[in-house]
Amino acid sequence: MTHLLQNYGTRIPIKFTHGKDVYLYAETGKKYLDFTSGIGVMNLGYSFTAGKNAVKAQVDALAHISNLYENPLQEEVAAFLTYGDKYKAFFANSGTEANEAALKIARLIRPNAEILAFVDGFHGRTFGAMSATMQEKIQNGFAPLVPNFTKAIFNDVASLKSAVTAKTGAIIFEIVQGEGGVTPITAEFAATLKSFQEQDILLIIDEVQTGIGRTGKLFAFEHFGFVPDIVTSAKGLGNGLPVGAMLVKNEFAAYFSAGKHGSTFGGNPLAMASAKAVLTSLTADNFLAEVADKADFLRTELDEKLATKSSVKAIRNLGLMAGIQLADESQLGQVLSKARAQGLLVLSAGHDVVRLLPPLVISKTQLADGVKILEEIL
Ligand SMILES: Cc1ncc(COP(=O)(O)O)c(C=O)c1O
Repeated sequence: MTHLLQNYGTRIPIKFTHGKDVYLYAETGKKYLDFTSGIGVMNLGYSFTAGKNAVKAQVDALAHISNLYENPLQEEVAAFLTYGDKYKAFFANSGTEANEAALKIARLIRPNAEILAFVDGFHGRTFGAMSATMQEKIQNGFAPLVPNFTKAIFNDVASLKSAVTAKTGAIIFEIVQGEGGVTPITAEFAATLKSFQEQDILLIIDEVQTGIGRTGKLFAFEHFGFVPDIVTSAKGLGNGLPVGAMLVKNEFAAYFSAGKHGSTFGGNPLAMASAKAVLTSLTADNFLAEVADKADFLRTELDEKLATKSSVKAIRNLGLMAGIQLADESQLGQVLSKARAQGLLVLSAGHDVVRLLPPLVISKTQLADGVKILEEIL
């Protein structure tokens, strides 16, 4: 008997009681090495003392004020995200809400234009973000969707070129398609997107999964030299507190004039206290360089231990976001449950990919421990 809707299907029958470092502990006492970070959220792990202390202090001082009043913490968090005052920030509570804000401001900047999105991208479950999510399993049953969304195939330059028309006002995409199967953008595709930006098509980069250090940069677009018009962020931004952000280039900021958008909770002091602690750690000396170094180590481990196995079709990664594509997609569920049985939590992506999103604070030894378990299973 459950009082809950079953929209998440049958949940995995583990009740976690607490987390420490990069491990989760179940009520049975079993310890799990976490290569999921709560789907890309707990980037600083489960023992992020600075974040915990900041949130505890903020609960005692003031958990919430409305957006009717000044909020210095929002200014401080925004200062970390806006690349030396090149962008202005709006705070929301989730990735899908950050994307709604992005789509709404894009509509104001380019009235009546079409927004192009990519097959197997994922942008969220609210109507705008879902309409940009070109996956049948996500959109099925919800028609009519928001109009004026078109689609092309990700990393397919010819498909992109033929999909862009005079009506295209914006393109929304991920630097690594996460939910779709851990597919990093190719340099050629990135260059083509930039060429459309030169023709005044807005580039909206969804960094909800790839951002906040996941790939060894604050945002993954930095790897490809993009200067996006709009950026969205969430997940790791709050290390467990619900925070989303939409950044827009200064030249477009005035389109969100008073009353155009808002949120009761967005950017509340509790969420901002956590985000400030996250960004303070992330931007400290060497943090991102260490993530990049650990990502190289993980890639080498995956290549050495798994790449030659007949059960593995391909390995892809950008930073500490990695995917192991299986030769036989029917094995995906088994791989996940066998890993769990051996005390390792991993995710799926698409229909045939084992996705790894370990906390960024993981050590090389812990990375090697997880890969060893996968080596035994695959
Ligand atoms: C790239 C991307 N965009 C948007 C979302 C939606 O975020 P949320 O679940 O916080 O609404 C996700 C979630 O997985 C995502 O990976």
